[in-house]
Amino acid sequence: MASRSGVSGSRSGGVSGSWSGVGGSRPTGQVTRMSAPTVPHLDAALPSGHAMPLLGFGTWQLKGEQATTATAAALAVGYVHIDTATVYDNEAAVGAALAQIDRERVFITTKVPGDGRANALETLRESLDKLGTSYVDLWLIHWPADGAGVELWQQLVAAREQGLTRDVGVSNYSLAQIDELEAATGVLPAVNQIEWSPLLFDRAALDGHTERGVVLEGYSALRGGTLEHPVVTGIAERLGRTPAQVIIRWHLQHGIVVIPKSVDPQRIASNADVGGFELAADDVTALDGLG
Ligand SMILES: NC(=O)c1ccc[n+]([C@@H]2O[C@H](COP(=O)([O-])OP(=O)(O)OC[C@H]3O[C@@H](n4cnc5c(N)ncnc54)[C@H](OP(=O)(O)O)[C@@H]3O)[C@@H](O)[C@H]2O)c1
Repeated sequence: MASRSGVSGSRSGGVSGSWSGVGGSRPTGQVTRMSAPTVPHLDAALPSGHAMPLLGFGTWQLKGEQATTATAAALAVGYVHIDTATVYDNEAAVGAALAQIDRERVFITTKVPGDGRANALETLRESLDKLGTSYVDLWLIHWPADGAGVELWQQLVAAREQGLTRDVGVSNYSLAQIDELEAATGVLPAVNQIEWSPLLFDRAALDGHTERGVVLEGYSALRGGTLEHPVVTGIAERLGRTPAQVIIRWHLQHGIVVIPKSVDPQRIASNADVGGFELAADDVTALDGLG
């Protein structure tokens, strides 16, 4: 997988990458509308040495045939990162779409319920079976239970040692809970997936993850009224972009992983078409100010 796109090889949490699409070079300043989607290929470096694409496709609430069709549409457009979870009950449907492409081309995340510690490795084996793969790129504890969940974390680390996942991380954890896991086991989560958007921007949380070398992955970026906020819509109108594209682009410029979900093929494509423009520093600051 090392060849997927520009891995920096720096400490984990570092970001590197490039833009694909017309020209293939990183644009500056002025916005240029492209006829074909210009999908960014920006990565965060993980402790395993593998790269985590900053743009992924979320699959929560996609079920059955719809999950297969939407995931296939995302892969066709150029997403190379898919986010699922045991509780989404769609791993087999997502796996049906993944079966159509080379396993090494895609970064797959799944999650184990935080209260599933008794049989976590069995849960992962079931996930792998449904997804049709011998390993995932990232396995997360979906939410903390029983404090930080040290016992469960030890099972994630064991799965990594067995080659069932390349990296391990958490979701919905506080920085204090992350520190607790590291203190108890010596293993720092590679990633923390938490709710994040301009309306939830928290400089201290972002800096806390960066200082630790934990990749911050945001979810529900498009929910909670962010798409309709006048600051977001104003920037979008001025740049000739959609509000969703502005929000997704804002994550990428902060080096934050973003995983928009959509069932609609046009939205799936346009949400990925964020490599052909750049937010000015003033716009990033204005969006930060919404938090
Ligand atoms: N770890 C956790 O606890 C956790 C919690 C929640 C989510 N997640 C992950 O994060 C992913 C993303 O979060 P999410 O699914 O809650 O929300 P999201 O991706 O922020 O937003 C999805 C919603 O926005 C709509 N949408 C998508 N693109 C749009 C566009 N361009 N314009 C207008 N509306 C658009 C979708 O509708 P249509 O489908 O109709 O387009 C859907 O209603 C999830 O799918 C899941 O993988 C993780």
